[in-house]
This record gives sequence, structure tokens and C-alpha cells, in this order.
Amino acid sequence: MSGAVEDMNALIAEGAAANQTGDFESAAAAYRQALRLAPENSQAMFGLAAALRALGDYQEAERFYSRALAIDPAPAEPYWELGYTREMLGDNQGAAAAYEQCLARDAGHGVAQHLLDALTGTTTDAAPNDYVAALFDDYAEDFERSMTEDLHYSVPASMAGKMAAICGAPPPHFRRCLDLGAGTGLTGAAIAAFAGDMHGVDLSAEMLELAKESGVYSQTFVAGMTEFLAKPMAGAHQHYDLMISGDALVYVGDLATLFAGAHLRLNPGGWFLFTVELADAGDFTLQSTGRYAHGPEYLRKSAAAAGFEPGSLDPITPRRDADHDIHGLLGAFRRL
Ligand SMILES: C[S@@+](CC[C@H](N)C(=O)[O-])C[C@H]1O[C@@H](n2cnc3c(N)ncnc32)[C@H](O)[C@@H]1O
Repeated sequence: MSGAVEDMNALIAEGAAANQTGDFESAAAAYRQALRLAPENSQAMFGLAAALRALGDYQEAERFYSRALAIDPAPAEPYWELGYTREMLGDNQGAAAAYEQCLARDAGHGVAQHLLDALTGTTTDAAPNDYVAALFDDYAEDFERSMTEDLHYSVPASMAGKMAAICGAPPPHFRRCLDLGAGTGLTGAAIAAFAGDMHGVDLSAEMLELAKESGVYSQTFVAGMTEFLAKPMAGAHQHYDLMISGDALVYVGDLATLFAGAHLRLNPGGWFLFTVELADAGDFTLQSTGRYAHGPEYLRKSAAAAGFEPGSLDPITPRRDADHDIHGLLGAFRRL
């Protein structure tokens, strides 16, 4: 191998390592240097495009994805990244075309499928597991800062307030608790005063790594919440006294199986507290944000069908999005 090729390979490896650790400025610098040595190297272009996308330079990212795909059109992955980049630039038609290209190469690509469904307003039953895992693995490091500082996330406080109202004073302890879509543990920590042993389940291993550091959970499980409820995993309790789910049911549209699972795994008299985004009409709908919104009647009907007592649905503002408040509901249902 010539020295120049070795240098270029080393720079590409340096860029990839920096992208992995979230140091996107260094990644972009390494890839740009590699491209000075080999201007037509598609691997360096893909890496640079990914770094630029993460840095929010969508115009430049789009340029490098397109150039790299013109040279090497085979891989599926860069197409959804290009699609997302185009969405950020307001080019929805171009975005849809790129998602379709990704799916043409990998028909089971959950990320591309969900982004396309959200873009075209096609309501599905749930976000694919690989979409959720990829989204939150990516987001984990910055999640708590972004939620509290940028998005004014209020679900933990709303949930703690509801727990206090349900419990009265002094607060009784729910012996065994389960946090569905626990994330890094923001909502779990807020209600920890009411909980004995708390377990957390989440599809994102990266989010749960941070949750473990919080010390809130005695056990965490990397799993889909609906699947976890249907079939106990090793180390899980067969039954819980309290279940919570803060801002996680927004990734599940059809809640029938999830409510049935919650009923199955709660002890009689146990509570299920959750938040959702509020749909303007109908049962549930997939929004352009990739999250679902649910209607109050649908929630009442589904909870009742699963065997919960009539419960409460309190209006909340779970968070802000860009410049507007998101309208949501805090549900509290008791198992018969
Ligand atoms: C917006 S975060 C909220 C995290 C936490 N509950 C909180 O209040 O900070 C949503 C979390 O739900 C998880 N999630 C979404 N859908 C899921 C599913 N079907 N099964 C398990 N976890 C899921 C995501 O991975 C993410 O960590």
C-alpha cells in the first residue's frame, strides 16, 4: 500500500471514530483531509455527510450524500440519512424519494419506513423497534439537556404530582414498579419517592446505560415494552404494583395489546400512569414528527377493554416543540 493510501485510510478511520464518539467537528476535519488526498472517495464523503448532518449543516450534507451516492449507489443506509437531511431542508418530495431508495435496497428498514410513513401521513400501528432504538441510541448523550433546557419537558413533574394526588399523605410505597420506556430515568427519578423496587424497560441500550447511572432502577431490560409485558424476561417480576410510562406511548399507536399486557402484569388494584400527545380527532394518528397522538375516547375504551377501572385523563403540556406547546394527556387507570 502506498503512503498516500495509508494516510487516507488512517484519516477515514479517524473520522469514523470521531463520528462514533459524537465529536463531529473533528470527524468533518478528518474526512475533509482524506478528500484532499482522494477527492472521489465515497467512503470519506458518506462520513463527512453524516458529520455535517449531525452538525446541522444540512445543505452541505445533502451535497456530499448526493455526490457519494452518484459514485456508490449500492448501500441502503445513506439513503435514509439523505432523506432526513432533505426533510430538514424542507424538500419533502426529495426526502420521500430517498426513503424509497433505501427501502428498495432493504425492504425491512424500519427507520426509512417510519420516516416515510410520518412524512406521507400514513398511520401505522407502532413505530418499528429498530427506528426507536436508532433514534434514542443516537439521542441518548444529549437527551436530558435537550429535554429539560430546549423542550421544557414537564412529564416528570406532572407524573409526580399525580402520584401525590393518588397516594395522599404520607405516601404509601408501591412495592414493585415498572417504568415502560424508561429512557435515562427522568420520570422514574421523579416518582422514586413512591416506589420500592423499580425496574426499567427500554428499546435503547444507550438510554438505559445512563439510567443505570441514575441509581433509580434495580434492574433494566433492553426490550420492547409490549413484548416485555406479554412475556416476562429473566430477572423481571411476574407482577408489579405500579406501572408508569412517560412520553413513551407516543411511539405506539394501537395500544390494545399494551394495555392488555399492563393489565396482565399488574397486581389487582395496581395503577398505570402514562402520558400521551392529544389527537385532534379519531383514535390515534401518526404525526409528521414520527410520534403518535391519541384521542381521549380511544384511551378510555382501550383501557376499559383491557380490564381497567374508569380512570382520569388530565390535560398537560408535556413539552414544547419548536415554538409551540404540545398538548397532551396524563392518564391514571387502576387495574380491577
Ligand atoms: C421521550 S423518551 C422518555 C424517557 C423517559 N420515560 C422520560 O420520561 O424521560 C421515550 C423513551 O421511550 C422508549 N421507547 C419508545 N418506544 C418503545 C417501545 N416500544 N418499547 C420500549 N421502549 C420504547 C425510547 O427508547 C425512549 O427511551
